[in-house]
Parts: sequence; C-alpha cells; structure tokens
Amino acid sequence: MSDLFDDAGIVIVDDDDDFLDEAKRLFDGRIPTVRTIADAQRGVEEGSVDLVILGPSFAHEAGLQGVGVLLELDPDLAIVMVAGTITAPLLRSAMRAGLKDVVEAPLTVQSVSDAVGQIERKVRRQRPAAPPSEPYASPAGEGKVVAVMSAKGGSGKTVTATNLAMLLAQRHDPARVCVVDADLQFGDVCLVLQLEPKLTMVNAAHELHRLDEPLLESLLTTHPSGLRVLAAPLEPAFADEISTAAMTEIITKLRGMFDYVIVDTASLLDELLLSLLERADQVLYVLDMDLPSVKNAKLALETLRLLKFPGSKVQLVLNRSNARARLDEKEIERSLKLKISAAIPSDGMVPASINEGRPVVESAPRSRVARGFDSVYDLVATDVKQDTSGKPGKRRWMP
Ligand SMILES: Nc1ncnc2c1ncn2[C@@H]1O[C@H](COP(=O)(O)OP(=O)(O)OP(=O)(O)O)[C@@H](O)[C@H]1O
Ligand SMILES: [Mg+2]
Repeated sequence: MSDLFDDAGIVIVDDDDDFLDEAKRLFDGRIPTVRTIADAQRGVEEGSVDLVILGPSFAHEAGLQGVGVLLELDPDLAIVMVAGTITAPLLRSAMRAGLKDVVEAPLTVQSVSDAVGQIERKVRRQRPAAPPSEPYASPAGEGKVVAVMSAKGGSGKTVTATNLAMLLAQRHDPARVCVVDADLQFGDVCLVLQLEPKLTMVNAAHELHRLDEPLLESLLTTHPSGLRVLAAPLEPAFADEISTAAMTEIITKLRGMFDYVIVDTASLLDELLLSLLERADQVLYVLDMDLPSVKNAKLALETLRLLKFPGSKVQLVLNRSNARARLDEKEIERSLKLKISAAIPSDGMVPASINEGRPVVESAPRSRVARGFDSVYDLVATDVKQDTSGKPGKRRWMP
C-alpha cells in the first residue's frame, strides 16, 4: 500500500465494531479509527486531520447533526460518508451538512483514495493560478459549454465528446471538466468510459427545485481520471422524465461549476437539441465521410441557418477523414457552406478502445487518431481566448 494514507491525515469514525475491524484490516491499522465525532474533534482541533470518513452508523439525518462542529473548527475539512444505501434524501442531508461525498458501503481502498484525490485536487485548485496559464477561463468566470452534434446516428459524436473531455481533463484540472450525456434514450458515455453510474440526470431532474451545486455535484459520476460525468437515464423509458427546461437548467448550473461542460447529444433535431445548441458556446458538428451523412448535415445546418442560429458557434469536425470511400473535402465544404475545422482519421483502435472502456487519447496518445482528437481539442481549448459567446451578428456561415 502506498504512503498516501499515512500522509493524508484521515480518521475513520463509526460505533460499529464490525465496520471498524474491517477498516483496520483494509488499511493494516494505518488509518486511525474512533467511535464518536467528539473523538474525531480532537484531531481536528490539533490540525492533524484533513479527511473524516463517517461510517454507516451516521447515515441518517440525526447522525449528521454533530458534523457542523467539525466544520466550524476547520471549514476546509473534507468529510465523506459511507452509507449502506444511498437515497436522495440522505444525499440531500449530507450535502446540506457540508459533506464532500457519500459513497456506497462497503468501504474500499479505492473509495478512500478517491476521497484523498479530491482533497489534493482542492488544494491544487486553491493555489493561486498564474493568469496566462488559464486560457480557458471565460471572462465572466463561467465555464464553456460545448455541444457535440450530428444529424446522422453513429457518426462519432460520443467518441469525439469523450476523447475531447479526456484531453481537457489531462491538460487542465480534471475535476473542472464535466461530460453531460444528453442522448437521453441511448446514451453510452458511461459505457465508453467504463463507468457504472449510481445516479443520473433523472435524479437531477427530480430534485430540480432544490438542486444546488453540492447536490448536483453528488449526482455526478467520477471517472478515475477525475473527470465528471452526468449520466444519461439508465433506461430509455426514463428519458421522458427529463424536460427540455430541466435539462437546460442543469446545464446552466454545471456551467457555473466547471470550466468545460461537454454535451454529447442524440441525432435528433428536436426541441431538446435546439435548446442545448442555443445554450452552448460552441457546437461541434461531427460529420462522417459518406453521402447520407453529408445530406443530413446539409439539411440540419440549413435548418439552423433558417432559425438564425449564429454560424460563429458551429465548427465542422470530419470523422473517418481517411475512409476508403473518400469524398472530396472541398466539395463537402461547398455543399455545407462550412469549413472543415478538424479531422479525425478512421482507425480500428477506436472501436477497440470502446470495448476496452478507455478513450484512445488515453490508451494510445501518440497514435494518428489521437492526434485527430488533438485537432478537436485545439478548437475548444484555444478558442476560449477569443469571444465565443455567439452573440448575434457574428456569423461564420459561408455565403
Ligand atoms: N474515427 C473512427 N475510426 C474508427 N471507428 C470509429 C471512428 N469514429 C467512430 N467510430 C466507431 O463508430 C461507432 C459509432 O461511434 P459513436 O458511438 O461515437 O457515434 P455516435 O454518433 O455517438 O452514435 P449514436 O448516434 O448512436 O450516439 C463506434 O463503434 C465507434 O467505434
Ligand atoms: Mg452517441
């Protein structure tokens, strides 16, 4: 076991012998265990505790009452709770009490190292940032929303969204990047990233009337890289529970919480997609290299023009750019009246990476296809320096 747990200043609190014995066994007795919050308080007063892990005996509203004392002593203290069953009311109480996270029992080495990782990231974030190295911070201090769309299924939206998010996570603060799976019926962002979400945007939609930042944060799924995901409903039938208004409100909240919000969408030019596009700072249109895709793109982009959607927001990403049935790129640009801004080659590593659950920019960062995703990253990460607010009047549609 690494020194991680020795150095982090952790204490585990619970009054159940079995839980404490298991925790001692798990960490070879290297993490101190105590029975009451009053016992943990001593360590907090001495300044030797950074992370308090509350066991399942605290997993009810009354159990959280003593927590306020600890946070009064040290407002930066991280408190994480282990609960047998995570319910929305419990989450709400936990977030209101100021807890950082609630994880499902049993306690594991992974859940504790994730919690330690979060404290480290928080510390990193608190360091004063050198202003020039933060090119992606929008002037208003709000994050950038990037919608990934296509009017043809299977053109590579999810692959593009997840690889882009992973690059942003690798090159910036991963905890400041969030992917929203807005393909409500058949979203597969979590599948592609090998995540098993416990909570999804259905929970967010249900809690909309009291959805503050801590509660929304608790509904996100964290990838091992630190990247956050707001998962799509687990079953297509639940898609109806998410109204367009709910989705746009959630996106607005996430914009205030993250530097980048990458929204994967379904290939359906409906009210939901149009509202998402309207709220996005940047729209990446993923175009597959075949005629039906070009035909659909032409129709979709024409519709956006008719709706007076600002052309400055839309950028064309050509996928499978080296496909065997190559179309002429100039011809595509002329037909769509839009320049190709980035290109991703076709590569068998992409489906393999999906099966493996690791985006190709992570598993094969030097590959040609990863360099293709780099060109997408360049559009998103550097573009922020310019004004991408999509204010009316700024058009990039070609005549
Ligand atoms: N550049 C590429 N090279 C090889 N295969 C690719 C490439 N891009 C996408 N694919 C494959 O195409 C399939 C569809 O990709 P993806 O799921 O990203 O598309 P999508 O637009 O999100 O589809 P849907 O409309 O179903 O959500 C996947 O199996 C993926 O492996
Ligand atoms: Mg998809």
